Amino acid sequence: MASLVDLSLVGVACAHVLLAPYSKVEESFSLHATHDALLYGVRPSSLLNYDHFVFPGAVPRSFVGSMLLAWSTTPVLRLSNFFGILSNKLDLQIICRLTLAVLNAISLAVLRRIVSKRFGFPTSLLFALFTCTQFHLPFWMGRTLPNMFALLPVNIAHAALLNRTPSALKPSARKVHVAIAWLTFTAVVLRAEVAGLLIPLILQALIAGWSDMRRVFKVGMIAGLGSLALTLIVDSYFWQSVPLWPELAGLYFNVYQGKSADWGVSPFHTYFTAHLPKLLLSAFPLALLGLAIDHRVRQLLLPSICFVFLISGLGHKEWRFVVYVVPPFNIAAARGARALMSLRKSAFIGRLAVLAVAGCVALNVLITVMLSRASIANYPGGEAISVFNDIYANRTNVHVHISNLAAQTGASLFTQVHAPPLHGFISPRLQDKGWVYNKTEGLTPRDLSDSKHFTHLIAESSGQDWNAVYSSRSWTLVRTIEAFDGWKLDRSAVQAIKDEKDVMGLLRLRDAISMQKADKLWILERNG
Ligand SMILES: *[C@@H]1O[C@H](CO)[C@@H](O)[C@H](O)[C@H]1NC(C)=O
Repeated sequence: MASLVDLSLVGVACAHVLLAPYSKVEESFSLHATHDALLYGVRPSSLLNYDHFVFPGAVPRSFVGSMLLAWSTTPVLRLSNFFGILSNKLDLQIICRLTLAVLNAISLAVLRRIVSKRFGFPTSLLFALFTCTQFHLPFWMGRTLPNMFALLPVNIAHAALLNRTPSALKPSARKVHVAIAWLTFTAVVLRAEVAGLLIPLILQALIAGWSDMRRVFKVGMIAGLGSLALTLIVDSYFWQSVPLWPELAGLYFNVYQGKSADWGVSPFHTYFTAHLPKLLLSAFPLALLGLAIDHRVRQLLLPSICFVFLISGLGHKEWRFVVYVVPPFNIAAARGARALMSLRKSAFIGRLAVLAVAGCVALNVLITVMLSRASIANYPGGEAISVFNDIYANRTNVHVHISNLAAQTGASLFTQVHAPPLHGFISPRLQDKGWVYNKTEGLTPRDLSDSKHFTHLIAESSGQDWNAVYSSRSWTLVRTIEAFDGWKLDRSAVQAIKDEKDVMGLLRLRDAISMQKADKLWILERNG
């Protein structure tokens, strides 16, 4: 039973990868770093080909996460190739993402086992149920955001802190040190904001007497200096700039210079009023209940809550900056739900409580299905380039320009299946057909038409007629790619359901909501 529950965590994470295999712009740095390491190798002579020298982004990011992912993906790729599963580079992207999804799911499964030890099996079952039925964490767990690399060690730290018998008041000093070491590594190498979780934890450990200043300092120094040496060596090498500490550079740029505010500023309460409810869905109120009734939950959640308060001080807010607190909040929610379900005042109240928890889970599922459907339809770039690759699979010497929108919505390096690097992971080795995928930025429709080397375009549709932007004398429209553009409620269908005054009519509400799509990209071919 327990392994079945853990398997469902893995299954849900993998299902999201397979349903939406393409990537978005936020993932591209780490995805391309993984791509380059896998396909070019990491020798100095290979570095010239790396994507980040052409598209460096606003601040340098660490290669450590991507290198670890490339390294753990390699045996999976060799095995897949042995069984003949790999047919092109997009398959490599899917395997990379599946590997990350499985690793993160395993860390959640470890956490679930420890929840089972501390709070009992039913609570751990509810924890898994909330985790699987939410949207953001499972959907993003297999996506190469630095935050999703950081999620894994943070989960391990939480597991270490929680790993004790139901009544043990405090964690052993050794486990506290393990948690501090992992969080230090994460903050120094992967995501600096995790320091906001580490510092409250250290204070909690000192004040509650879990360890003492001298030992905490020693652990922090060893883990901190070791991690610093790692990131300095790896990132100075890959960025060819000595010395480079990406997370410090990021802090300097985003916090000290305040550049992150350029991406938008939200009020102080946004994490509590918008992002956490969105991440947790119906587990949010249940987490508050768990917090109220169990001191063990309060002890676990204290650093997480301090972290969210601390990071609320930064103007620019995104859900992914606080995603690490989702597992502990889900533990709190599971505890709250468990308490509700064991209300045995009367059979009626007991049944009502079970119904309420089931309703919460059903609500999560409903929201997640809607959000997943919208997200799956939201990768026009990935779809366009795949369609393009299929249409022209037998052509040689194609030179296609990829618009910014296409590159940002799924046309990753892995999708450039007909161009080098054509890798030995896939056998029989693919042939070089002289294709060029060109991502040069800042070209106007006019530039594109005048540059005769472009034989095809994957161009951004601007909501107009295509030949108003690209003359039909020069180009032929081959395909239009649509993508998600909102939901539409059919009011007359809703009225009809209301008029029926039948509860079962509610089931037909599904038909009253339909997905709207709009043209996003054009595939164009140069005439004659
Ligand atoms: C990509 O397009 C740009 C702009 O036309 C051009 O300068 C560049 O040489 C092209 N890249 C390749 C590899 O042909």
